[in-house]
This record gives sequence, C-alpha cells and structure tokens, in this order.
Amino acid sequence: LAARFAQEIAAAADLAALDAVRVAALGKSGEVTQLLKSLGTMDAETRTAEAPRIHGLREAVSEAIAAKKAALENAELERRLATERLDLSLPSIEAPRGSIHPVSQVMDELAEIFADLGFSVAEGPEIEDDWHNFTALNIPETHPARAMQDTFYMDERGADGAPKVLRTHTSPVQIRTMQSSPPPIRVIAPGRVYRSDSDATHTPMFHQIEGLVIDRKITLGHLKWTLETFLKAFFERDDVVLRMRPSYFPFTEPSAEVDVGWSMEKGRRVVGGNEGWMEVLGSGMVHPKVIANCGLDPDEWQGFAFGTGVDRLAMLKYGMDDLRAFFDGDLRWMKHYGFRF
Ligand code: PHE
Repeated sequence: LAARFAQEIAAAADLAALDAVRVAALGKSGEVTQLLKSLGTMDAETRTAEAPRIHGLREAVSEAIAAKKAALENAELERRLATERLDLSLPSIEAPRGSIHPVSQVMDELAEIFADLGFSVAEGPEIEDDWHNFTALNIPETHPARAMQDTFYMDERGADGAPKVLRTHTSPVQIRTMQSSPPPIRVIAPGRVYRSDSDATHTPMFHQIEGLVIDRKITLGHLKWTLETFLKAFFERDDVVLRMRPSYFPFTEPSAEVDVGWSMEKGRRVVGGNEGWMEVLGSGMVHPKVIANCGLDPDEWQGFAFGTGVDRLAMLKYGMDDLRAFFDGDLRWMKHYGFRF
C-alpha cells in the first residue's frame, strides 16, 4: 500500500490530482483512515504489532503529499515568473491628473506675495448679514449697491432683522477682522462674492481679495507703496505703473481707484508701461465711521483698505478674454493656458 501511494503521489501532475490522492488515502473513508479505524477491532496483541506500522504509513503518506505539494507550488511559481515577466522599459499609459484651477492658483500667488509683506489671511461667511455687508461699512439704506439688481437676497434674516445676502464684496471681512482681533491689523481676505450680473466680463459669482491695514500712523503713502509692490510682484515686471484716481466708496475717505498702465507687445495688450490705463482695484483710507462701528477709537487707529477682482487680475496676467471661461470647466481651455502640472 505504501508503495502504491508513493507512486500515485509521484505521478500527480497538478494540485487537483494530488488532492484526489490525499482524499483516497487520508480522507474520511480513505484507505489509510480505514486501517486506522480497524485498530479498534483488533485484539490487544495484534494491535500492538499493527499500530506502529499503520501510524507509520499515515505519517509517510502525509509527508510525501506535503513534499509533493510544495514541489508543485514551486513549479507553478517558476512557470509564472518565466511567463508573466514585466517589461519595465515599455512606455507607461499616461494617467490623467487633476490641476489647480487658475483662480485658486492666482489666489495662492496673491496670498504668497502678501505673506512676504507680513499679511495674514482672514475669512468671513459667503452668506452675510446686512449689517456686515452694508451698514457697518457706512453704506446707507438708500445706496444703489443695495438695489435688487445687484444683490442676491436670502429668505433667512440675520440678527439685525434684515434679510441676509450673498456677500457682494469681501469688505465685510474688514468689519469681522476689526471686531475680532485687536490692532495692529495686516490681513488679506480672498474669497467668493456674488452679484446679479452676467456678460463677458461679469459672472454672478466671482472672486475678490480684500486688504486691510490698521495701525496708529498709517498714511496714503503706505497704501500706494503696498499696491505698487504687490502689483509689480504679481505681474512679475518692474515697469508696472500705477495711477490713483480720486473716487468714492462709502467705507473709505479719501477713496482712490487704481489703474495700471498697459502697452502693446506682439499685438497684445500687456500690463507694463503707460500707453493706456485700465482699472484694477478700489482703495482708500478706512472711514473713521467704519472704525468706530467696529468698536475702535478712530482718533487712535487708522488705516487703509483695498479690494480687487481676482478673476480680472488672472485675465490680465494670462491674457484671457472671457471671464465666463473660468467657470466652464473646459479642460482644453485649461491646457491652452498651461494650467497643468
Ligand atoms: N468693496 C469694493 C468693491 O467691491 C472695493 C473696495 C474695497 C474699495 C476696499 C475700497 C476699499 O468694489
């Protein structure tokens, strides 16, 4: 019997055949199992003689099966190693990768530029109450900025009892910052803002970045230097020229709109030089009433603020002509402008 099983085990060509031999020998009704069971029916003398032989047979068969199993598995591994070889020199399939949206990228650039100037980043809610978005900023009830066509109103009312709004600018973050952190203050506040307006240069949602500096001896000179330094760094040109035009915002006094000079290069308008002007931001010295509205003493604290459109800055820097393309999600457009890394 031992010889027969040894021969059958040796002949097993694969794991399935080997398992069939195992069942025939050691399975519930296998031949070796039967022999083991028969020990119980033997008289003591015969059992003493037979037991070592039968147990020995069981040992030998299961050892032979284990050895053959290892050999078969090894052979299978060898076969796979030989046939399933990876060719590491083959070019790989290009996996599509995501990229940072141009607007996010420009906001990151701006945050970096201002971080170098000592500004930190402040935030406020996009659903804002009337007081922060308008009243605290000295925008009277009758101001046209409150008119229905510009502002998106919510059903929900704020603590001030007036309907909440989708913030129409990032200026309410000025208020929140002055209320929550003691001066001196140097912050920028990038974020989404909303106005009911849509054409090639306006989208109902767009991005602004607000700047606010509050300290004891801040002048218009600091504002001009800060804007000049920031615009030169952003457009990566030393020949960026600024023009400050007197203007009006309820929350700054005096107020100035700031233009940058452009010139023609290779048939394209680029920022730099002064062949013409285009407006890039609104700014001014924070109105004493606004400072007082935030619980600070305007005789002690003063400062400047500015606000600019991030999408517009991106258009100018990268020579894009339709603001709406920013929000179409067209990957060909992203690739064209090189926003891919
Ligand atoms: N909030 C103004 C706007 O949206 C911009 C601005 C900010 C002007 C700060 C002056 C000071 O147009």
